[in-house]
Amino acid sequence: MKDQLEKIKEDALKQIEASDALEKLNEIRVAYLGKKGELTSVLKSMKDVPPEERPKVGQMVNDARAIIENRLEEAKASLAKKAREEQIRRETIDVTLPAKRNNVGHSHPNTIALEEVERIFVGMGYEVVEGPEVEYDLYNFEKLNIPKNHPARDEQDTFYINDNIVLRSQTSPVQVRTMEQGRLPIRMIAPGRVFRSDEVDATHSPSFHQIEGLVIDKNITFADLKGTLADFAKELFGPETKVKFRPHHFPFTEPSAEVDVTCFKCGGSGCRFCKGSGWIEILGCGMVHPNVLRMSGIDPDEYSGFAFGVGLERIALLKYEIDDMRLLYENDIRFLRQF
Ligand code: DAH
Repeated sequence: MKDQLEKIKEDALKQIEASDALEKLNEIRVAYLGKKGELTSVLKSMKDVPPEERPKVGQMVNDARAIIENRLEEAKASLAKKAREEQIRRETIDVTLPAKRNNVGHSHPNTIALEEVERIFVGMGYEVVEGPEVEYDLYNFEKLNIPKNHPARDEQDTFYINDNIVLRSQTSPVQVRTMEQGRLPIRMIAPGRVFRSDEVDATHSPSFHQIEGLVIDKNITFADLKGTLADFAKELFGPETKVKFRPHHFPFTEPSAEVDVTCFKCGGSGCRFCKGSGWIEILGCGMVHPNVLRMSGIDPDEYSGFAFGVGLERIALLKYEIDDMRLLYENDIRFLRQF
């Protein structure tokens, strides 16, 4: 009996020694000290021990149990200590490591240019309005004095949803939508995305942005148009900037003009940037055509107005001296970070 107890004890201690996880210690506890454990089964065979021996054997079993229990506790504590040390080691923060950079984004050059243009016109009392990108042919063309089969439609070939609905080829339909609301006078700009079925190259894209401008009131003249755009150009490109109005044709304005500004690179003497001319074209404009006013329910004998249309990308490219429009759409961070 004594030898048997000794052996059980030795085995248990050996196993405790060799175990490297808390679960294993638990298994050992169950195997030796549990209800069906080895020591317990020794106690059960006590009936075979002569009565006078029983206290002694009982003592021996209790001693063995105490030793095993002790060792189990020690092993448990040492495993827990090891685990904690390991955790502390893992979670150590090396304060000498370089910090993680927090990459904060910023506005796209198109957005920066748009906000600048909006700031200038809002400062002159204009309202900023928006219209739908998917637009009726009626608003994109017909009510802007561009009937079916008009040659101006060729220049603005766009994407058709069906015979009556297009992806707008210009922001000018927002003029019509605003005039139709009948709240006069009007002073508004309408920025937004427009579409044309153009191939992508350095100066073309099937999707780009325009900013439309419209003023309708009594006694508005070409002088108002000229003064407004001259101020706008000075604000945008610097106080020395001069403007030049060249006669042009747009179906929705009469008379119409294209506006050039003095090259802000050379000041007008001619350089590579303005291709030697000293001038850079920035927008189209004119006095709103009487037909357009009439079609939107405004009496051209009582009211008159001017309108203009600016290409947003054109402004961004000029302002930031970017020579390829594709750069604006590629989202290359190395490019975008520069603005
Ligand atoms: N919608 C014209 C275009 O896309 C630009 C334009 C020119 C708008 C003259 C106007 C304007 O309002 O009066 O080419």
